[in-house]
Amino acid sequence: MQNIALVGFMGTGKSCVGRLAAEALQFDFVDTDDLIESQCGLSIEEIFKQQGEGAFRQLEKQVVQNLGRRQKTVIATGGGLVADPENLASLKTHALVVCLWASPETIWERVQSQTHRPLLQTADPLGRIRELLALRDPLYRQADVLIQTGQRSPKEVVQQVLHQFQLARQ
Ligand code: S3P
Repeated sequence: MQNIALVGFMGTGKSCVGRLAAEALQFDFVDTDDLIESQCGLSIEEIFKQQGEGAFRQLEKQVVQNLGRRQKTVIATGGGLVADPENLASLKTHALVVCLWASPETIWERVQSQTHRPLLQTADPLGRIRELLALRDPLYRQADVLIQTGQRSPKEVVQQVLHQFQLARQ
């Protein structure tokens, strides 16, 4: 168990918590969306627009397959990555998979001022969050650990992540 992978819906704090956890452990930090963007030279939004969601999911899958080579790394993943069961299985071979959880209302509060997520650019983003979260719920629950983030500060969530990692390595 050499890495930590953070999965969970958009706006659950994967990148923020991941960075802080990596700092505390003196691990590297990577974000699958950042890896895809630098590989393509395009933003996630542009990839969705120019190539479609299917192409983005293929890129995501390739990136996940290459993560197995990493050691001492905290990996933040895109919110839809677990929709492909092979991605989750692949992460589990080298990482403790931690799901960060929040209610649709909390997620909406956190993401409503942001505009970079193509899947939420609809007339009813909260409805979309509810719908996607319900679809993905059984997949997120297959993570090794589930952490509620609603009432917790990022620092408190990081403490939980580090504690779970310590337990998993014992
Ligand atoms: C997505 C989540 C995004 C990004 C893309 C699709 C999703 O990542 O990968 O917009 O399907 O939930 P974040 O979870 O980091 O926002």
